[in-house]
Amino acid sequence: MHFNIIPGKWISHDKPKVNEQQKKLENLHLELLENTSKIIAMQHLSEVKVSEDGVRDLFLNYNGAFSEEGKARIRVIVAGNKELQNILSPDLKRLRAEKRDDATKVLDPEHKLNRKIAKMKLATKLGQKMEYLGKGCSGTRFIKGVNGKKLAIYKVSHADLKWTTRIINFFKYISLGQLGFLNPDKKSNYLCEVLAYRAQELGFSALNIAPVRELQIGKENGAFMLFKKGHQELREVQEEFNSRGNYTDEEVNLVQQFFIYDYLIGNLDRHNENSLWKMKEGKVSSIVPIDNEHSFPVRLTHPLAYFAERNQYCWRHLEISDIPFTEESKAFITNNLTVDKIDAWVAKMESIALDSKDKPLLRGDMRKFFYSRVAQLRDCAQGNGAKTPRELTHQRRKLHESVS
Ligand SMILES: Nc1ncnc2c1ncn2[C@@H]1O[C@H](COP(=O)(O)OP(=O)(O)O)[C@@H](O)[C@H]1O
Ligand SMILES: [Mg+2]
Repeated sequence: MHFNIIPGKWISHDKPKVNEQQKKLENLHLELLENTSKIIAMQHLSEVKVSEDGVRDLFLNYNGAFSEEGKARIRVIVAGNKELQNILSPDLKRLRAEKRDDATKVLDPEHKLNRKIAKMKLATKLGQKMEYLGKGCSGTRFIKGVNGKKLAIYKVSHADLKWTTRIINFFKYISLGQLGFLNPDKKSNYLCEVLAYRAQELGFSALNIAPVRELQIGKENGAFMLFKKGHQELREVQEEFNSRGNYTDEEVNLVQQFFIYDYLIGNLDRHNENSLWKMKEGKVSSIVPIDNEHSFPVRLTHPLAYFAERNQYCWRHLEISDIPFTEESKAFITNNLTVDKIDAWVAKMESIALDSKDKPLLRGDMRKFFYSRVAQLRDCAQGNGAKTPRELTHQRRKLHESVS
């Protein structure tokens, strides 16, 4: 062995050789994995007398020793072989079998969430990392599968944000920013995502609301939201959509259902990047309301709180928000937002609780203002309130008597 002496440090000339040796070993191991994958694809596993446990050992238990490049290659091998994925994740295998045997599971949101979570766990074991949005300040990440495609969005609790973001948030809370009008509990942000998702149970079946579930990943708590493919942010299609000026009845009914949903949850951050639209032959065919963590305010906004209410109901600037509520929209409100149905839904939402003391999220002023918005919507349906969605947004500061 040869060493050079430089002040305070020993540098070994042999070191690069060790790396090369490691690389060679890694390549050998990767070749073994590739061949194992081929044997599995040809269904010859039993012939070579390798058990499924052996395959799991081979792929998962040595993973820590691989370089990032090596791990990426393993993921490519696994991504190309479903049978291998099933061996590596018995959970995924079971869920896929359930989906195959029961057609209702294909679209069942809870089952879909389970499948994506199993895919995420497998990808994580194989070294797949989450992708932080921007500088990661908002706490939003993309979760990817072994094939590198996005599976879900993960949004963490305020308590799990970077300390710098937490300080900024504190100032936003005490100033007249959005946070000052929302529940200050550290878990409320991601639980509001869950609550907003559950609002679809009130009948918003025309909307393409992405399923969400509270989920702990590692030490963090957050909301896991399914990734919706094939959509664009409203910001990208807004100009063309707005300039059209005339809309089909289907479009008006769909868009109004989105307006009703958004008014109901009261999201303070519904700017045009926070709804995803799918356009088909120039017409809107699907809407996904996303980023609902600023929903269910606990206080009414006021004109001085310019920054807090600037982004609330931003769709009020769209031409289509000037079209009066259609008979279908009114019937939707009358049939779905009844006192009984709302009360039953609120009671069900008790299961979404803030802490170990089981404090339901939807309580106090948050609940009172929710009921007020329901009352306003019902007034619209009965012809006593706003005639158009845009007009309704002008009444957002008007406090209605709680009907609860
Ligand atoms: N469910 C989803 N399906 C597809 N894309 C999504 C989904 N949720 C978010 N996105 C994309 O990620 C971006 C950021 O997500 P968002 O929830 O708005 O986080 P942030 O709080 O950082 O604004 C969105 O503008 C959208 O382009
Ligand atoms: Mg957003």
